[in-house]
This record gives sequence, C-alpha cells and structure tokens, in this order.
Amino acid sequence: MSVRTALVLHGPNLNLLGVREPSVYGRVTLAQLDRMIREHARRRGMRVECRQSNVEGQLVDWLQSAQGDGFGGVVFNPGAFTHYSLALRDAVAAITVPVVEVHLSNVHGREEFRRHSVIAAVARGQISGFGPQSYLLGLDALAALARARR
Ligand code: DQA
Repeated sequence: MSVRTALVLHGPNLNLLGVREPSVYGRVTLAQLDRMIREHARRRGMRVECRQSNVEGQLVDWLQSAQGDGFGGVVFNPGAFTHYSLALRDAVAAITVPVVEVHLSNVHGREEFRRHSVIAAVARGQISGFGPQSYLLGLDALAALARARR
C-alpha cells in the first residue's frame, strides 16, 4: 500500500506541548504542531490524520487498526512509553504498515533511561532531536519507503 494516507500518533503528555518543559520541547503547541504536519503532508500530496492519547491501550488499538482504517504508514511518538512499553512494541511488531518512531528531543543526549527505546528495533527507523521537524522528516521517510517499494 502506498503511503498516501498516514497516521500520526502522539503519546502521553504530548497534549501539554507548548507549556511542558519548553526548554526541552519548545513553545509549539500540539494544535500548532498538527497544523504543521497537515500542511507538510498537503504539500507532498499526502493525507494525514493526527491523534493523541495518554492511554497505552488506546495507542495499541490505533496501531492495530491503522491498516484497516486505510493508513499506509504511521509516524509515532510514543513519549515515555518509548522506554518501557512492551505492549506498544508488540503492536508495532504485529502490524505490517511501516512505523517511523519520532521524538522532538534528542533522546540519546538526555538522561540514561531515555537512551533506550523498546520500539526502535521493530520500527522502520527512528528520528530524534529535530523538534517539530522530526515529525515532518518522519512523513518524508514514509514517502521515501513507499517510493522505494514501487
Ligand atoms: C519524547 C521523549 C521521551 O523521552 C519523553 O518521555 C516524551 C517526549 C520526545 O518527543 O522528545 O514524552 O518522546
């Protein structure tokens, strides 16, 4: 399936973007970030749907239903679940649509516990440290994967 339609999933605490630790995550709010993502997708001829949840099971459900809902790829910021959620890792491993893991901050330059991602090994790749651009690069990565498959 081509990645004409992508699902963007934001995990826990990302609803607080703009006010949460702005020195780490910046001042861009989630609504502004989603607008940037939609605009970037539009310019590339992609459609995108952005969702956020603080609930692990909700994220599992959205990953499981991504293909059935017509999405050809997922850009996923699992937030702190990145570092310990085996349920999310298993969901990413279980589905066939490509998942690109993204992070606003450079998780490899922060606390030791953030340097390990249980998701990375089952994602197609990881983009970390570019602020809102990480999501845009994630969309570009999905588009590049689709082109390579053609
Ligand atoms: C994050 C990094 C995680 O370590 C943290 O728990 C987050 C945000 C990021 O986008 O930089 O909630 O995923």
